Amino acid sequence: MAVARSVAARAVGLLSASHRHMTALAPAAAAAGTPTALGAPRRAAAATGGRGVPPPPPTPPAAASPASLSTGRRRPTRPRRRLISHDENYDKIDVLLARYPSNYRASGVIPLLDLAQRQAGGWLPLSAMNKVAKILGMSPVKVYEVATFYTMFVREPIGTYHIQVCGTTPCMLRGARDIVAAATEEAGCVVGGTSADGLFHVTEVECLGACVNAPMAQISSTTADPYVEDLTPASMKEVIRTLRAGKELRVGPQTDRPGCAGPKGKTSLLGDVAGPYCRELKADG
Ligand code: FES
Repeated sequence: MAVARSVAARAVGLLSASHRHMTALAPAAAAAGTPTALGAPRRAAAATGGRGVPPPPPTPPAAASPASLSTGRRRPTRPRRRLISHDENYDKIDVLLARYPSNYRASGVIPLLDLAQRQAGGWLPLSAMNKVAKILGMSPVKVYEVATFYTMFVREPIGTYHIQVCGTTPCMLRGARDIVAAATEEAGCVVGGTSADGLFHVTEVECLGACVNAPMAQISSTTADPYVEDLTPASMKEVIRTLRAGKELRVGPQTDRPGCAGPKGKTSLLGDVAGPYCRELKADG
């Protein structure tokens, strides 16, 4: 019970700080004429159509307009551009929630938080989490618990590119420490910090499921979350220089290795993949 109270107090403390920051930023965002956070359309990573990922539009932290997330209602008096984007966002929510039985709507909390984070410019204002809770019929604190648990969600404005270097055992054994050092040196920030130009935020995270291509990192922005794999300190720095120059990023192995193939090339899973195999969930039980 004491541990639970401690975690809850930490979550509330973090969110309060985030909310104070959000309030301070709102006038700057309004003055800049930025689009509403709910109105910013999300471009799916799949739209990039392959291994190259074009750079996202610049999203400095102050560009977020969290106030709109707290309202997010269909208002016919809004400017046309915002209204269209707003409807697009609700269409996306409908598509996401259609994946779950009606009595398991809370299962959509992570995809909805992800959507909200992209629309808010790469971070989650408190008002966005409250909005997600309202849509899903969840207690707000349960949404805060999810948002504070997963490192993919950030609760304060960060750089345009969130560089998440995996530091778990396979990556660590393959030199993750050196990759973190290279990333912070080239980006010009410490771990957990944001570079002075507002472009990069570097964190160390747990296993991202690409251990066979260790060491690796995920580069998140409002438009995509590509992996860069088989890294060396030199290639990590080159990745950051590519992003800084606004050039297209090479996704996947940063070597000549095809995918995750071993020295003999592909030796298994040569036929068509069967499935998918999903357990059935009763809609009303
Ligand atoms: S340990 Fe780094 S991706 Fe799994």
